[in-house]
Amino acid sequence: MKIGVLTGGGDCCGLNQAIRAAVMRAMDFNHEMVGLREGWKGLVEGLTFPLGLDDVEGLIDKGGTLLESSRTNPFKKEEDLRASLENFKRLGLDCVLALGGDDTLGVASRLFKEYQVPTVGVPKTMDNDLSETDYTFGFDSAVAVAVDAADRLKDTARSHRRYVVLEVMGRHAGWVALWTAVASGADWLFIPEVPGDLQTMAAQLKKKLARGKHWGLVVASEGTHFEALNAADETKEKALDAFGHEILRERGIGPFLAEEVEKRMEVETRFAVLGHIVRGGSPTPFDRILASRLGIKAVELISEGRFGHMASLKGNEITAVPLEAAVGKTKTVPLALYEEILPLFDK
Ligand code: F6P
Repeated sequence: MKIGVLTGGGDCCGLNQAIRAAVMRAMDFNHEMVGLREGWKGLVEGLTFPLGLDDVEGLIDKGGTLLESSRTNPFKKEEDLRASLENFKRLGLDCVLALGGDDTLGVASRLFKEYQVPTVGVPKTMDNDLSETDYTFGFDSAVAVAVDAADRLKDTARSHRRYVVLEVMGRHAGWVALWTAVASGADWLFIPEVPGDLQTMAAQLKKKLARGKHWGLVVASEGTHFEALNAADETKEKALDAFGHEILRERGIGPFLAEEVEKRMEVETRFAVLGHIVRGGSPTPFDRILASRLGIKAVELISEGRFGHMASLKGNEITAVPLEAAVGKTKTVPLALYEEILPLFDK
């Protein structure tokens, strides 16, 4: 079979390891692997390049994606969809192996369901918010970087008797903020699943101040909702990506919260926005292994003709789930989990 491989959406750690494993496993079936550059853009433009062992062998410790990525949505314009379908045929592809999150796999699911294009998916996202898989690769590496940053911020906060706000990525789901806050012993956290309550935060932080803790760390997801910010947001024109998502970096949760903490607590405050730093660098062993297992499984699914499926982690098993079941519903942090960890923050 001739398999076109692509990586779409925001990049994350583990992509290169999944590509490497898929190419290696494909050799066992004599499949021909070709790369589609920059996500679905590669199919829209019909540009492929050969992917062999020499291209991927050394990728085990490399961040980023050899295939490059974009947020191209072929369903956005009729001519792009037509071009994608034509290119699939013209290039002699038998299947598209798409590595992506909800948007990228949503396209794979629709192409399969509505246009009978044989597609198979591999879940990835540092946000860990894709359904039907316990974890996505990229998440563990992102948390590792964020915890390292948080530990460093605590050192400087302690030296200067300051509060520091750390803003991390997470549009709809607060997994990265939650795990980072727990693992770094933060003093408070904000996630998109729980409306931002500044009064409660101030009350909790004041308790700490009263018992002599003059410094601290607040971790916040970029997508947290605050009434004050939402009102200001409504008046602004929002920049959107190809899938219609607001580009959040302009929202400024970090500076907003730093100002609020300073005002309410009367302590000096600083903020740091981690942003894309957590998406690069060498992946953690957990992500390298998860990505490799998923890459192997995806090629096995293709070889068995199980199109319209995604390789997935359930418990410690790598299994298969229908793409349709995985896309369109964000895996957010359950309230019960948030409540479970709250005792670490309200003392
Ligand atoms: O991959 C998802 C994500 O990490 C979001 O948390 C974030 O809002 C977005 O990517 C930003 O990515 P980019 O700047 O590459 O569009």
